[in-house]
Amino acid sequence: MVLRLDDPVAVTAWLERLAPAHVRTLDAYQPGKPIEELERELGITGAIKVASNENPLGPSPRAMTAIAAAIPGVHLYPAAAAFGVRRALARHLEVAEDALAVGAGSNDLLYQLVLAVVGPEHEVVSPALGFLSYRLATEVAGRRFVTTPATPRGPDLDALCAALSPRTRLVMIGTPNNPTGSVLTRAGAERLLAALPEHALLVVDEAYAEYAAAYPEIDHVDGLALVRAALAAGDPRVVLLRTFSKIYGLAALRVGYAVAHPGVLGLLGRVVRTFHVGTLAQVAAVAALDDDEHVALSAAHGRRGLERIAAALVDAGVTVYPSLANFVLVDAGRPSGPLYDRLLRRGVIVRPMAAWGLPTCLRVSVPAATDLERVVQALVEVIGRDQA
Ligand SMILES: Cc1ncc(COP(=O)(O)O)c(C=O)c1O
Repeated sequence: MVLRLDDPVAVTAWLERLAPAHVRTLDAYQPGKPIEELERELGITGAIKVASNENPLGPSPRAMTAIAAAIPGVHLYPAAAAFGVRRALARHLEVAEDALAVGAGSNDLLYQLVLAVVGPEHEVVSPALGFLSYRLATEVAGRRFVTTPATPRGPDLDALCAALSPRTRLVMIGTPNNPTGSVLTRAGAERLLAALPEHALLVVDEAYAEYAAAYPEIDHVDGLALVRAALAAGDPRVVLLRTFSKIYGLAALRVGYAVAHPGVLGLLGRVVRTFHVGTLAQVAAVAALDDDEHVALSAAHGRRGLERIAAALVDAGVTVYPSLANFVLVDAGRPSGPLYDRLLRRGVIVRPMAAWGLPTCLRVSVPAATDLERVVQALVEVIGRDQA
């Protein structure tokens, strides 16, 4: 047979037969448009992107210096097991180096976990309204993803525990969770651990941990303490994921890490791609980790910004869900699509939540201090109740 490239129907049929069943049913990730592209389309300038939970303070100056210094060495392959990052993290977190693995973002580690431990007969269980990559990482591998009920205020832990079975290999939960901002309490984490089947891992995704640390008065689990306690007790079933993409301001470089039992990380080592974390990412991560001042400033900025946005929107009659991250989920009470468009025309790019089954909600990240009042004003004027 000769494939007729000028016949789209034939090409589609050919592609359908080329891909295995679990790939045929997947949708490709739809990335948001680059800010410059949107500005060009709308004929505006100075747009503010509050759609991806990035750190508006930028990277640590120390990371920028380290990147510049490492550029002459980029003809060499990077350190394969990110040795320097693991050593720096071991010191910083007070865990053994062999309890640390570095990934190309924590996203990469999610994919590695599924590949390493979830077989065709197994399941990944996660509450609804979670980070979309939990499902994606599972379904890309052709594995079964089971969701349990949740509201924007948090997961139904009874339902989550009841869904666990001998088929469960991974339980994935974000705290603070993206997109809701909700957290797992210390007691909630203990409950989950008590209900965890023998051959399952509890994956605690703390991409926003350093932002949540700005709320010591609010009960939320410390994933690091949880994994440390499990390791000390000889329990290998807790995996902590964190990232340099959020408070450390290195999203473009793709670097995250896992803290877990060395044996579990050994399984990840069997599926990982070689040289998956580049040198510039590694040196930037090491330098950023030491910049306590940048982290503290960023966390304080996050809390201040959230409080300002939340207060203004509550005053405007909008439902605002509690968040301990650098973003907030708001419910406008009417379809968010037109609101998103109106905000866009005002140069404010938020994230509509229809893909999560929340058609009236929007997620808003904390912007730079210089942009905060413009974002607040646009939100109040576009989604405030009396604007309906
Ligand atoms: C809850 C959560 N986990 C993990 C990630 C992945 O981050 P990265 O792959 O950039 O480390 C994100 C990014 O948005 C997130 O929100």
